[in-house]
Amino acid sequence: MIDLSGKVALVTGASRGIGRACALRLAKAGADVIVNYVTSQSAAAEVAEEIQSLGRRAAAIKADVSEADDVRAMMEFVGDRFERLDILVSNAATGGFRPLMEASPRHFDAAMHTNARSLITLIQEARDLLTRSPGQSKVVALSSHGSHRALPNYALIGASKAALESVIRHLALELGPEGINFNTVLAGIVATDAIKNLPGSDAMLEYTRSNMLLPDRQLEPDDVASAVLFLASSLSDFVQGETLVVDGGIGIRG
Ligand SMILES: NC(=O)c1ccc[n+]([C@@H]2O[C@H](COP(=O)([O-])OP(=O)(O)OC[C@H]3O[C@@H](n4cnc5c(N)ncnc54)[C@H](OP(=O)(O)O)[C@@H]3O)[C@@H](O)[C@H]2O)c1
Repeated sequence: MIDLSGKVALVTGASRGIGRACALRLAKAGADVIVNYVTSQSAAAEVAEEIQSLGRRAAAIKADVSEADDVRAMMEFVGDRFERLDILVSNAATGGFRPLMEASPRHFDAAMHTNARSLITLIQEARDLLTRSPGQSKVVALSSHGSHRALPNYALIGASKAALESVIRHLALELGPEGINFNTVLAGIVATDAIKNLPGSDAMLEYTRSNMLLPDRQLEPDDVASAVLFLASSLSDFVQGETLVVDGGIGIRG
């Protein structure tokens, strides 16, 4: 069993969806968890309360991960209250489903800043806290098949996810020798708010459900959180700069 007792974790975008599942999963494994959100204050507070009810320390903190000042203030809060950071899950992302021919520079920049550049800022501001971890500290980012495939209306997010995966590899190169472990979980389609807002999502969910290479199941946030838990644990110490695909086998199909 994975035991994260005594570890401190921060999950960005943990008020709902996959981030919420990751926060709860890490807490159930023993970690204290900081729950980041940007708009859903009461939902984030509920996640923090649920974590506290497990006997862990928890806090909900508002910070827009695309804003450097917010990220700096969030890491100051983590340092003041929790003194170090062992696990950082970079999960927060913004949508912007539209064809490239209708995308403005502002749309492109918003996706890039929130989904990819934010990870650089998070690590710049958390580097000192992450290197205080007694073993290897763990950074896990969330990506999608859009990073390497062309999907309808997904170009902005897909491009940002390709950048995100590259940033993870380069952070591993730069900071791996300091004891920070970086990996990506690439998830298949999960029926969260982000997907439900996408036109044609019902057909997409049905397609993925019927094409997964396992018995009749839908990919759930908890399935993705299981992979994040593995990469947040010492079991993955020698997995560095990699992308772990959690999609029920959809990605290997011809
Ligand atoms: N769902 C899928 O099928 C799927 C597949 C592959 C990968 N992923 C990836 O998994 C991650 C989570 O996806 P999801 O479907 O769970 O998303 P979601 O349900 O839309 O939740 C997004 C979360 O990110 C937060 N957030 C958004 N912008 C933020 C910002 N600027 N600063 C801080 N927090 C911000 C939201 O906070 P508020 O609630 O406060 O707004 C919310 O907690 C994303 O990186 C996504 O790309 C999802």
